[in-house]
Amino acid sequence: MTTLEGLLEGRRILFCVGSGGVGKTTTAAALAVGAARRGRRTAVLTVDPAPRLKDALGLGTLDARPRRVPLGAGIHLDAVLLDVRRTFDEVVRGLAATPEQARAVLENRLYQNLSGTLAGTAEYTAVETVFRLAQDGGYDLLVVDTPPARHVVDFLDAPRRLLALLDSRAFAILKDPTVILPGAGSRVAHYVLSAVLRGLERFTGLELVREVGDFVRAIEGLTGALRARVAAADALLHAADTALVLVTAPEPRLVEENARLAQALAGLRLPVGGIIVNRMLPRALLAPAGPLPDGLAAPLMVRLRRAHGELAALAARQEAVLAPLVARAGAPVVAEVPLLAGDLGGLDDVTTIARHLFPPAATGSPSVGRLGG
Ligand SMILES: Nc1ncnc2c1ncn2[C@@H]1O[C@H](COP(=O)(O)OP(=O)(O)O)[C@@H](O)[C@H]1O
Ligand SMILES: [Mg+2]
Repeated sequence: MTTLEGLLEGRRILFCVGSGGVGKTTTAAALAVGAARRGRRTAVLTVDPAPRLKDALGLGTLDARPRRVPLGAGIHLDAVLLDVRRTFDEVVRGLAATPEQARAVLENRLYQNLSGTLAGTAEYTAVETVFRLAQDGGYDLLVVDTPPARHVVDFLDAPRRLLALLDSRAFAILKDPTVILPGAGSRVAHYVLSAVLRGLERFTGLELVREVGDFVRAIEGLTGALRARVAAADALLHAADTALVLVTAPEPRLVEENARLAQALAGLRLPVGGIIVNRMLPRALLAPAGPLPDGLAAPLMVRLRRAHGELAALAARQEAVLAPLVARAGAPVVAEVPLLAGDLGGLDDVTTIARHLFPPAATGSPSVGRLGG
């Protein structure tokens, strides 16, 4: 039987993926609470700036710096807000050998125009935060909430795309524009190119030559370090102690979307390790109907039987909706969380969900592992 506990064994990073609105952020928080209560030094990294989550975790503010969330009995976890729109500047600052080198890149107009639009840089900065905390945050486990399905592929594929860019011909041209000329790198090539750029400069009024030259010199010293760093972040995503857990709700549209997502991620060599089904019909409602007590009025008996029949039909439908997801994701259901009544408010609700994610071993949720486990 596969359980969430089993999936977490030996893992250091857990990415929660899935469509928007399935309860991914809530589940990530609950996972972190459960892991922290099991004695692991845990941080939850969320991309969701919603005040609800901050409130749920009892935090006034949430940003890129880890905030401590006390869970009582001396237990705590840390929470971090991952900003996928933060600029690439911090990465540059971290890699530059000296503040002057960083400034040379950051203040360059070419960099300023490029850094926001280069493929994957915005998402990469979020991955970079995960990487940094995994390396020297002092945690046993990072639970990472990811952007909704549409964007998660960009997010998890960002290091690879950035590497592809750094290795691309376009980037080689940017570093040394003379490579496009015959006799690349030669003094003649440099002379020809300078002449062309100076001509352009007269037309455009841009200090193109100087800026390209400055940028080339500045980025040159950085790309080796950047390449190694991005490659290491990519390796971390694919490491054996990193796992992906797919969060879904038992609804046909979400299941279809998530099945497609799981297949796209498998294509990036990021297979889903387990599925968490959120907002299930509470199992207690679906227990086999025992004999009805004597003395009930016949019309009431009829209504009770009908009500139970309807719930049983819903339960069967729920299983039928989920079965293709299990097959297409190639991963078992590792936990089920019932649909809770009312709005989820604070840490108590997150803790309740954590209890469903990690049911006590002895009693265990009877359903876990039934689908493909
Ligand atoms: N098991 C559940 N029962 C009831 N409501 C839930 C459950 N899980 C999540 N919710 C609610 O669903 C909404 C979306 O949850 P959220 O975690 O923000 O989803 P996502 O991050 O996938 O967009 C929130 O209002 C949350 O309180
Ligand atoms: Mg969310």
